[in-house]
Amino acid sequence: MKLRVGITYNLKKDFYPSENQPIDFLEEFDAEETIDAIREVLESEGHEVIKLGGDTGLIDRLKQTSVDIVFNIAEGLVGRNREAHIPSLLEFLNIPYTGSDPLTLSLTLDKAMAKRIVAGQNVPTPRFKKVGRIEDLNGLDLCYPLFVKLCYEGSSKGVRLDSKVLDFQTLKEKTRGLLETYRSPVLVEEFVSGPEFTVGIIGNEAPFVLGVMQIEIKGNSPEESVYSLEIKREWEERVSYHCPPSIDRDLLKTIEEVAVRAYRALECRDVSRVDIRVGGDRTPYFLEVNPLPGLSPVYGDLVIMARSMGWNYSRLVRTIFHQALKRYGWME
Ligand SMILES: Nc1ncnc2c1ncn2[C@@H]1O[C@H](COP(=O)(O)OP(=O)(O)OP(=O)(O)O)[C@@H](O)[C@H]1O
Ligand SMILES: [Mg+2]
Repeated sequence: MKLRVGITYNLKKDFYPSENQPIDFLEEFDAEETIDAIREVLESEGHEVIKLGGDTGLIDRLKQTSVDIVFNIAEGLVGRNREAHIPSLLEFLNIPYTGSDPLTLSLTLDKAMAKRIVAGQNVPTPRFKKVGRIEDLNGLDLCYPLFVKLCYEGSSKGVRLDSKVLDFQTLKEKTRGLLETYRSPVLVEEFVSGPEFTVGIIGNEAPFVLGVMQIEIKGNSPEESVYSLEIKREWEERVSYHCPPSIDRDLLKTIEEVAVRAYRALECRDVSRVDIRVGGDRTPYFLEVNPLPGLSPVYGDLVIMARSMGWNYSRLVRTIFHQALKRYGWME
């Protein structure tokens, strides 16, 4: 079947951060090379591909250009529903698209909401408090060390090497800093000190695990490791990725189970990456799910994982696309 496929996305180069914006303001957006890499894969299957972008001009472009389906990787512009904006528009216009629907995209962007949903299905996740004002920290009933991050951000925006805090004074300073810099609520969570994994999941009725990848920060013990902005920006020097990881089969199985249960609880579609950290009791704790995992052919965690599992970039993108086609009943 030959289709007209639109791609929706937000590019780093379309924004000009002003001086008072945080240094990671653009972190979630994509590079043009990523869009071209996806386009090439879809064209190699014989589809016609139209780059639609993701600014407000998209509304007119969608009315003028007819497409059969959209390959959506747009992170959106503002607010906690930003990842849901384009999928909502596509649903309004009755245009099929890849990936999760607006409800899942909003729920998963707000880490506190996602944690409430998975905890309701008995998926282990660190105890937490959502903090909108500094006074919300009064009477905090959580055990140190704690981890302080933004509630609605990805790509380690706001996560730094000093995000782990050991006492109330530092917790208050760190939280105040994030609230003032990002003007957005903070999630204070109990720190899980064991090894970290990210799990790639693909599919719908019977989702399968593409791979489990351990993220080891070079030269740090797991207790001192944080996959922070500083580390992600220098990943080539500072991170060792192990996929599959050298862990015992029982632990691997429980990590996969926790990830798939979270994926199902949040009703993710087609693809997602679930971040997990293992506690001292060997329990894998759900940290968050990324229903729009980065697809950079160079540094996307899901892409690195796929490559280690013997999948080239083209197979990964095609498989995600085919999951959507199957979901719409266009493919067996
Ligand atoms: N409760 C926690 N305990 C220990 N480490 C944590 C905890 N929460 C977050 N981290 C560390 O901070 C990193 C970033 O956190 P998280 O994955 O929640 O944020 P993110 O910015 O949305 O990530 P992504 O880049 O995957 O979108 C994690 O990969 C992990 O190393
Ligand atoms: Mg993460």
